[in-house]
Amino acid sequence: MLKVWTRDVLGQFVRTRLTGHRLIVVSNREPFQHRRAGARIECIQPASGMATALDPLMRASGGLWIAHGSGDADRLTTDEFDRVPVPPSAPAYTLRRVWLTPDEEEGYYAGLSNQGLWPLCHNAFTRPRFDPDDWEMYRHVNRKFANAVLEEAGSDPTFVFIQDYHFGLLPRMLRDSGSNLVVAQFWHIPWPNREVFSAFPWKEELLEGMLGNDLLGFHLPHHCQNFLETVDCSIEAKVDMAGSEACRGGRCTMVRPFPIGIDFDEHVQAATSDEVGFHMQCWRNQLDLDNQVLGIGIDRLDYTKGIPERLRFFDRLFEQYPEYRGRLTFLQIAVPSRSSVPAYREADLEVEALAAKINFRWSRHSWKPIVLLKRHFAMPEMIALHRLAQFCLVTPLHDGMNLVSKEFVASRIDKDGVLILSRFAGAARELKDALLINPFSIEEGVSAIQAALTMPREERRRRMAKMRESVEHNNVYRWAGKFLSELARIEFPEYPEPIDVEFPQNCNAWNERILEVAV
Ligand code: G6P
Repeated sequence: MLKVWTRDVLGQFVRTRLTGHRLIVVSNREPFQHRRAGARIECIQPASGMATALDPLMRASGGLWIAHGSGDADRLTTDEFDRVPVPPSAPAYTLRRVWLTPDEEEGYYAGLSNQGLWPLCHNAFTRPRFDPDDWEMYRHVNRKFANAVLEEAGSDPTFVFIQDYHFGLLPRMLRDSGSNLVVAQFWHIPWPNREVFSAFPWKEELLEGMLGNDLLGFHLPHHCQNFLETVDCSIEAKVDMAGSEACRGGRCTMVRPFPIGIDFDEHVQAATSDEVGFHMQCWRNQLDLDNQVLGIGIDRLDYTKGIPERLRFFDRLFEQYPEYRGRLTFLQIAVPSRSSVPAYREADLEVEALAAKINFRWSRHSWKPIVLLKRHFAMPEMIALHRLAQFCLVTPLHDGMNLVSKEFVASRIDKDGVLILSRFAGAARELKDALLINPFSIEEGVSAIQAALTMPREERRRRMAKMRESVEHNNVYRWAGKFLSELARIEFPEYPEPIDVEFPQNCNAWNERILEVAV
């Protein structure tokens, strides 16, 4: 299959198609965070699929990224306009930080976003909390970000690309400002069906906010459909299901699926690096991999990720298959996340207690079946684990896409390893050669692990090769390129439909075509 979208193609695309326009990205989580580390200041890339996906786009396009400055050394590294060039090693774009007070952060982020919208949009059976004070703070913070966007954009024609559920009201605020903006948003999490969404007490205002977008993207067609049905039954709007758009007050919002991906090439390059080789050796020693088969899980410590369910698979596996006792280690990385939210602290305690219980039950001599590591790891350390594992469990109870599954596949330059993937992750639509399971079912989990451990090498290679093709092809540049193509067509309707997959004979021909179309 042809690989059409690369970093260079996207860069060229942005320079030619978005001519005369600025690009401003808005998200809550910043792509680079400065933190104190003793007397030093360190710069880290927070664990976020969203930030990981957008960073390559910004590097390719330059432009400005507006985000909450949440690091304890962020203020020390920004200029008088709250801006800092990033990435620090080779600046390619500008990060503008917005400062929030503890109360603002609590109400808008921990409250409405993460205790209201997050559980509402994920079917993980965690009850959402809808607090009017949080809603008020969400409004207020959306307004604060709107002011930052308007200040930066001035009267220049600007594409504003908003990320995620933290900013449901921002699109309308920008639209109503009368500025010269084309506004688009990508909602990185699922959109529930209309019955579930109807529980949201301020649904009219939120939907009206989101209909301030010219373009609204979700990962999957059925999230788009859920959204349009929700609009249809909640507010006065003209919904065109076939054309996938909703119009209100004479303006229309196109609603489209854009399944997100990763930077496959960069990932493959990293997987072959000496640094990853070094970490592989460290892990081999640490985990005694000469005598152990390794399974891994890598997630934010979030109740939607299905970590306790997954640990229970191993308890049952050792019961049913004594031959794996003493021979199989499951390493779970759980990156601490949103610990100001009670449900996350509970999930943390549950995971910790369960791992201890399973280890207490099955440990023999120096062997411990579950290794639970609760901290942030750098990408090369994780890629090293991907490369060493016989299987990787990505079993969220519900997930918009899930990029860990794609990272695991991209790391497997040897085309080996088995991916066990939840049917309820968006990635399952694409990675059909994974072993797909219902993450709530212990039986399915155990048989998938057993299948992974006994799968013939030929079958592993066949499945992995197909998944790699798909991850390579549906990479993050394609996601961004297709999104931006749609966006550009709003401003320049003469542009052709976004070019898809197999169209060009070769990349050069396609590059030429982009240029032709752009001029
Ligand atoms: C998900 C969301 C992102 C978010 C990330 C990490 O991927 O879609 O918007 O940034 O989780 O969560 P956090 O709350 O730490 O930003």
